[in-house]
Amino acid sequence: MTRLAILGSGNGTNAQQITEYFAGRNDVEVACIIYNVRDAFIAERARRLGVEARYFGRKDFYETGVVLDYMKERNVDWVILAGFLWLVPEEMLRAYPARIINIHPALLPAYGGKGMYGHHVHEAVVANHEKESGITIHLIDSQYDRGTTLFQARCAVSPDETPDSLAAKIHLLEKEHFPRVIDETIKASK
Ligand code: GAR
Repeated sequence: MTRLAILGSGNGTNAQQITEYFAGRNDVEVACIIYNVRDAFIAERARRLGVEARYFGRKDFYETGVVLDYMKERNVDWVILAGFLWLVPEEMLRAYPARIINIHPALLPAYGGKGMYGHHVHEAVVANHEKESGITIHLIDSQYDRGTTLFQARCAVSPDETPDSLAAKIHLLEKEHFPRVIDETIKASK
């Protein structure tokens, strides 16, 4: 069994979709959901899905290393960043080389980097009157939104687009592609 840890900070729609996608499979499972914002809705989704969820704070990630200890205890093989808004600690990158997958709600390298996350991305795309946006699924390295691109999907940005309507389009793309790309990436690594 290949075991995934999902890291998130917010609503958790991607975490839910990934968990549901792999439910009932005998080769890949979501071992745990880790979140870093205490009252994030992702914790409630995990509870409803019956997946173990744990909160960890900044110290746990960057100083004590307890997050990594926890992932090792749970025999985690791959780390999935699904709306996780902190830089991954170096120690975690070393422990999971080319095994940390992130999703970004834009066509990287456009609209990436520090501060470019979630709604901020959609606001910037709409403010700049872009004609298209999309999603990027990529392996991460030690900088924000860099690393090997695994997959991109595009959507049109209409002249009357709002950040909210664009967010809805992006969420549909994420639902359609993120679990499948994770699945295919794991298979290709074997
Ligand atoms: C998703 O749209 C994801 O692409 C984005 O945060 C949202 C999380 O939604 N990630 C980033 O902006 C990372 N830089 P969710 O919590 O409902 O899955």
